[in-house]
Amino acid sequence: MSWVEAAKRRAAERAVEHVESGAVVGLGSGSTAAHAIRIIGARIRSGELDDILGVPTSLQAAAEAVSAGVPLTTLDEHPVLDLAIDGADQIDGELNAIKGGGGALLREKVVAAASKLYIIIADGTKLAARLGEGCRLPVEVLPFALVPVLQRIEGLGAEAAVRSGSGKLGPVVTENGNLIIDADFGAIADPARLEAQLKAIPGVIETGLFLGYADLAYLGTEEGVRRLARRRRKAI
Ligand code: 5RP
Repeated sequence: MSWVEAAKRRAAERAVEHVESGAVVGLGSGSTAAHAIRIIGARIRSGELDDILGVPTSLQAAAEAVSAGVPLTTLDEHPVLDLAIDGADQIDGELNAIKGGGGALLREKVVAAASKLYIIIADGTKLAARLGEGCRLPVEVLPFALVPVLQRIEGLGAEAAVRSGSGKLGPVVTENGNLIIDADFGAIADPARLEAQLKAIPGVIETGLFLGYADLAYLGTEEGVRRLARRRRKAI
């Protein structure tokens, strides 16, 4: 296992320590969140955890949960989650993050907003002084509005492109039937302002800016795990 993969696993182990028996847990998407799902499954099998339910943020997370033996539920049945554990493409020292590298940002943000405790796990290379530096911002867009939204995003100063997949010709279609624009803004001076500007564009469904959601972050390093905590708890 590479040090990065081992670091992701260590970060996931720390996050799963917050999962108690009886918890309803938001299950994030991506390779780091998959470690957390597998660890939760292993703890259910060993008897350390019981009565756990998971709400997956993507088909990938659902498949990981099924294979790990984590029973699933929905936000219809459990609109408030005890906690959620998810990965990130980039995170800053204030625990604001860019997500959506796996195209699951819309459901991930819904789950983040529904969670009493939201924990981001990542390897330490994801920590950045300023969001957007070397990391494109994914934006989920209604297909009908693609070209006007693309032009409006470029008008905000980004180099933007529709995400194409592999294994299929044409654009990536999200699990919500939408498209993704990846926008390179460079270092984002005012993420909250950019979020408001993007959300004001008709046809933008959601952005990958996760501002004020995370309570805790565990970042795996070559030697151990760095813990970052939000100064003020959010209300839910
Ligand atoms: C998916 C995400 C992922 O959490 C993010 O891309 C990080 O993935 P990984 O842990 O594989 O680096 O936001 O939409």
